[in-house]
Amino acid sequence: MAKGLLEGKRGIIFGALNNQSIAWHVAEKAHEHGAKFVLTNAPIAMRMGEINELASKTGSKIIPADATSVEDLEKLISQSMEILGGKIDFILHSIGMSVNVRKGNHYTSENYDYTMKGLDVSALSFHKVMQTAMKLDAMNEWGSIVALSYIAAQRVFPDYNDMADNKAYLESIARSFGYHYGVQKKVRVNTISQSPTMTTAGSGVKGFSEFISFSEKMSPLGNADAESCADYCVTLFSDLTRYVTMQNLFHDGGFSNTGVTTEVIEKFSN
Ligand SMILES: NC(=O)c1ccc[n+]([C@@H]2O[C@H](COP(=O)([O-])OP(=O)(O)OC[C@H]3O[C@@H](n4cnc5c(N)ncnc54)[C@H](O)[C@@H]3O)[C@@H](O)[C@H]2O)c1
Repeated sequence: MAKGLLEGKRGIIFGALNNQSIAWHVAEKAHEHGAKFVLTNAPIAMRMGEINELASKTGSKIIPADATSVEDLEKLISQSMEILGGKIDFILHSIGMSVNVRKGNHYTSENYDYTMKGLDVSALSFHKVMQTAMKLDAMNEWGSIVALSYIAAQRVFPDYNDMADNKAYLESIARSFGYHYGVQKKVRVNTISQSPTMTTAGSGVKGFSEFISFSEKMSPLGNADAESCADYCVTLFSDLTRYVTMQNLFHDGGFSNTGVTTEVIEKFSN
């Protein structure tokens, strides 16, 4: 496989919590492809300590930042430019959290304080990251910003709860900010709509392991795993995709365009 696609590029990677995290795989792949980057996560996630292992493996510095705090983001982005020695070429936003899901509140019985918190963490933080980067003039031209999404933004998956609304908002921010960042700085902004993947965030969703099996059977290529998602992120950070922007890109083994599969039909035959 080609290597060195990110040679000379500088990045910021949000959301590597443990070795299951999609962001963890992205950091490993970006390192293999020659990128230098800063790892960041919420201060509370630092307590787990696993991110230190990733940092030493990839020769990266860690800067804690709550992605909902503009003050934290300003420090993160300006310190990253100092550490990496210049402007940033790519940012991965791999952050999601619903308090309603965590507390087991049904979609029709939301606690709206929890809803607002989840929306801030999972979607508005993407706007905050980009607005802060733009104000600090932190991105190089033709830079690339990617956030991770899920198909519940377009179609109903009942137990995905208010995360569905958060993802719809996230994808809309990618389009709207992508327009302005493109015009002002030639920076591209996309979301990747990933297959269900067994991670800490994913497994918080009710019935998740059954759902992963269903999705596997509903995808002609099977579910895309975290490592393949990381490969796709690398292509989007690379110079090979310079005119891809404002898109929601499905990385799901064909799930999104499949009505039903023979395997699923066979489950219903007597
Ligand atoms: N796992 C799946 O099935 C799946 C599918 C499609 C999309 N996604 C998306 O991928 C992204 C990454 O999730 P994951 O599955 O790797 O799980 P994960 O739990 O490993 O990652 C979620 C991350 O969000 C971080 N986070 C939470 N609150 C934060 C805050 N205030 N500031 C900064 N960081 C914060 C967590 O610390 C964690 O590192 C999320 O956006 C998720 O919705 C996941």
